[in-house]
Amino acid sequence: SQTSIKAFRGAFFDCVADPFYGSVEESIRYIPDGLLIVENGKIKEFGSYEHLQPQYSDVEYIAYPDKLIVPGFIDLHVHYPQTEMIASDSNQLLDWLERYTFLTESKFKDPDYSQHIAQFFLNELLRNGTTTAVVLAAVFSESVDAFFEAANSRNLRMIAGKVMMDRHAPEYLLDTAKSSYEESQKLIEKWHNKNRLLYAVTPRFAITSTPQQLHLAGKLLQEYPDVYLHTHLSENVNEIKFVAELFPDSLDYLQVYEQFGLVGKQSIFAHGIHLSDSEFQRLSETQSAIAFCPTSNLFLGSGLFKLHQAKSREYPIPVGLATDVGGGTSFSLLQTAHEAYKVTHLQGQNLSGLQALFLATLGSAEALSLDDKIGNFEIGKEADFVVLDGRATPLLALRTQGKIHAKTIEEIADFIFSLIILGDDRSVAATYILGEQAYIRS
Ligand code: GUN
Ligand code: ZN
Repeated sequence: SQTSIKAFRGAFFDCVADPFYGSVEESIRYIPDGLLIVENGKIKEFGSYEHLQPQYSDVEYIAYPDKLIVPGFIDLHVHYPQTEMIASDSNQLLDWLERYTFLTESKFKDPDYSQHIAQFFLNELLRNGTTTAVVLAAVFSESVDAFFEAANSRNLRMIAGKVMMDRHAPEYLLDTAKSSYEESQKLIEKWHNKNRLLYAVTPRFAITSTPQQLHLAGKLLQEYPDVYLHTHLSENVNEIKFVAELFPDSLDYLQVYEQFGLVGKQSIFAHGIHLSDSEFQRLSETQSAIAFCPTSNLFLGSGLFKLHQAKSREYPIPVGLATDVGGGTSFSLLQTAHEAYKVTHLQGQNLSGLQALFLATLGSAEALSLDDKIGNFEIGKEADFVVLDGRATPLLALRTQGKIHAKTIEEIADFIFSLIILGDDRSVAATYILGEQAYIRS
């Protein structure tokens, strides 16, 4: 096969280490006039234009002189079947699930409908600069097939799974422990590691799974040790009360999952709003990840995630940002970072723009143990990236004046912060997948 070489010139920003633990200087990389060389979808060279230009003088480059190029955003937790029910008014989590969610998800037994929404959803991700996501489908295998087919045809790196739920939901949405095991197994065989796709065993949450179903979810993880475990944890106070009633032998919510072998390095838990110190500590010891979903946590009134505790030096937990659409209110990880900033402020803590951007890129890649493939512009990684426009709106243009050509770390930090607070899908000028343009703002 022929080699394809592509080159991109512009200002580049990425994270090379975790800015929650190291200094800004050692955690970030900013190249005001850089060149990115992509060969067959992977990063072949990355550095300053001046330095690399002589070597690649015969390669035509695509130039983005007034833009900032950053790694593709990673959404660590999102429900594709809930796309159409975003912004549904209700009480908190359990009421919202009963009033809107279950009925909406019932439509995903239909493969055509699933495919239609999967395509819409992926368009929406790309419009927002999101190139990888950890996605819940619905309970129906058809909904998983439709999603993976759509993602595969666009060469996207996506993680998804069939929701397992065999109790406490309407009959039309329930599987059984046995059928959920068998169907998940088939889906793993069919999709896991197919091109860029990966599978997540996805029990919805402790309320909607019998012990037998959680046991079989654990069996799947033993049989396929490199698949993910993806579920919800400790989001809402009434949810937690119900879990305590359903699992009286468990000391806390996390222990329910621990008992069934569902807690470990491949596990991603959404929310974790009301965790005890002991639960934080056990998540750290097992290297489990938390998906921080601030727009959802505020919208559903779930509470404030203790980011500073999750990112403590003593018991660090891998954390990534997540939209949790349809509980979340935006597909934009810029807007999500904005809400994350407010959530930390409400607790007397701080979150810098650079830290927030880390949580949307390299932080999530690390949480997924995919930091050898995505998350920044290291040589050898997959070339998924976003072109950000600091002049997307009149207000942004006014606010970012001059900073588009930032010279210092302070200037680039300020530029990124203003993009997070004022930006959204309008600030995404283009999105590239494996070096190919997958979205361009018209
Ligand atoms: N817990 C169980 N199911 C869901 C869901 O669909 N959304 C959210 N936010 N929390 C959940
Ligand atoms: Zn969710």
